[in-house]
Amino acid sequence: MAYFVLPLIMLLLVPTISSDPDSLQDFCVADTKSSTVFINGFPCMNPNYATAKDFTTSILSNQGNTSGNLFGASVVFTTPQVLPGINTLGVVFARVDVGVGGEVPPHTHPRASEIVFVLQGNLTVGFVDTTNKLFSADIKTGDVFLFPKALIHFVQNTGDTTASLIGAFNSQAPGAQIIPLALFASNPAIPNEVLAKAFQINAYEVDTIRKNLGGT
Ligand SMILES: *[C@@H]1O[C@H](CO)[C@@H](O)[C@H](O)[C@H]1NC(C)=O
Repeated sequence: MAYFVLPLIMLLLVPTISSDPDSLQDFCVADTKSSTVFINGFPCMNPNYATAKDFTTSILSNQGNTSGNLFGASVVFTTPQVLPGINTLGVVFARVDVGVGGEVPPHTHPRASEIVFVLQGNLTVGFVDTTNKLFSADIKTGDVFLFPKALIHFVQNTGDTTASLIGAFNSQAPGAQIIPLALFASNPAIPNEVLAKAFQINAYEVDTIRKNLGGT
């Protein structure tokens, strides 16, 4: 019986402990330009042509521009486009800079959990679970916080200087849905009546929010 049940249990466990699918080779340096094949991730370049340069980037070394959007935050990922060696490894870093008074508004990463490390600053962070319980903390330089996979979370700068964090994800493509933009600035737009009912506001207020977010 155990011979039969044990493999079955292990099979059932696999989806709960895996993130991106495992690579079958040492690496698969992304060919982000020439391939027209659509696969899960990017196709590999010929491994004979891979060099150490494919495994390094300085893209996170500088503070991002926090005044380029409504929310006062900048997020930069080490995508396969800038770090081709990351393709299929199931990890990615992001650098998050949040200006004074700024925030990364409530959002989700549908494909990854996120662990953040504060480089500098004072922040309030939090996530909401599927029972609508909020888990929030005030964190500062050197602290770590966790956002479980797919749960809605936010990051707010509560300090008097720009705050910076490094986020690490267990997917090379965590994806991001910024809740206010997904709902009020989608293309095409979600019908006004749907949002009015959802938020218990009127159509005029829906339009106001759309305009504030740069939607139509
Ligand atoms: C962070 O908070 C501490 C304690 O309140 C304060 O001493 C420090 O100046 C703050 N730093 C920033 C960047 O706001």
